[in-house]
Amino acid sequence: MKRVAILISGGGSNMVALVNSMTGDHPARPVLVGSNDPAASGLARAADLGVPTFAVDHKRFGRDRAAFEAELVAHLDRAAPDLICLAGFMRILTPGFIARYRGRLLNIHPSLLPKYPGLHTHARAIEAGDREAGATVHEVSEGVDEGPILGQARVPILKGDTPDTLAARVLIAEHILYPAVLRRAASGQGGRLDLAPGDIPGLADQ
Ligand code: GAR
Repeated sequence: MKRVAILISGGGSNMVALVNSMTGDHPARPVLVGSNDPAASGLARAADLGVPTFAVDHKRFGRDRAAFEAELVAHLDRAAPDLICLAGFMRILTPGFIARYRGRLLNIHPSLLPKYPGLHTHARAIEAGDREAGATVHEVSEGVDEGPILGQARVPILKGDTPDTLAARVLIAEHILYPAVLRRAASGQGGRLDLAPGDIPGLADQ
């Protein structure tokens, strides 16, 4: 059984989707959920799901990312994860952290990378007049929102969309995409998963 740690900064809806997916014949189980924000509401959701949690408040460390990460690493390594899923984890990680977990660190980003790395992805896609948006799960490498793409899910951008309505539609796709990619990664399956709008239940009723 593969051991999966999940890092969050907020509500943790992707974390909940990942945790709920790891049952039955799934090759992995959740062992730890951590956050850089002790007030992240996802921590209580993880605890309700029976997953051990921790928080390392990044504000205690000022600009010292390495010291922040040393504590993060101590928590993670005690849980001996095979895979670490970043799920709405909003801190930039240092090359040292990324190298330590290379090949075992996944991230979900709310755009069709390589389009729109960074923040405000939905506003940027609408502003550009794009017809489609989506989400990407990728292996983390040193650049921000870079690294080999393991899966993408596409959703339409509809007339009258705002960044919030589009974010809600993309989130529905994220909750299908991330568990599907995690299952493939945990089974050692290579390649890349591409989901079209028709592959995403719930999109039509939105
Ligand atoms: C998700 O949309 C995720 O793709 C995004 O934050 C949201 C977290 O929601 N991640 C990033 O923007 C990473 N740069 P959640 O806490 O409900 O899973």
